[in-house]
Amino acid sequence: MPHCNPATQKRLAFGFAAAMLAAWPAMADDDDDDTGRLEYMYSCSACHGESARGDGPVARYLNVDTPGLTTLSRENDGEFPLYRVVQIIDGRHGVGPHGTIMPVWGARFMPQALAEGGHFRAEVIVRGRILSIAHYLESIQD
Ligand code: HEC
Repeated sequence: MPHCNPATQKRLAFGFAAAMLAAWPAMADDDDDDTGRLEYMYSCSACHGESARGDGPVARYLNVDTPGLTTLSRENDGEFPLYRVVQIIDGRHGVGPHGTIMPVWGARFMPQALAEGGHFRAEVIVRGRILSIAHYLESIQD
């Protein structure tokens, strides 16, 4: 969160991590096709909204507009910009807005993935999670 002090940030981050860990087994049990939607609900809907129209509960506290994510294809001549979206969500490669207000998800997903395996495996897990979100977004384009 951009506007809280470091202690609050730490508590929020811990709460977030705990919530993710608690949700993990339930997610693993779910139908594979649901993974991206669940990831989106956990990681993105607070700002971008449950229906991805930029109207999540946190959006009103940000000092920039939170974009809706259902018009990405329309804004790209009818073609879903998969590569760009993956890079934006990842945020580690300097593409797009991440690192401003948008969290750098590639970096956030990393510690948990590293705990589950070596560096190479962790990178695969992180990219898989990001790709599942991107595919979910592709499936909900207007
Ligand atoms: C803390 C609020 C917040 C969260 C959480 C968040 N975003 Fe964002 N996102 C933003 C804001 C604000 C922007 C607009 C650019 C900026 O100023 O950072 C944005 C921009 C984007 C864009 C670029 C949209 C465009 O039209 O170019 C994409 C794609 C995106 N977010 C996807 C996601 C995904 C997927 C997640 C979850 C993994 C996510 N965001 C989580 C706030 C957030």
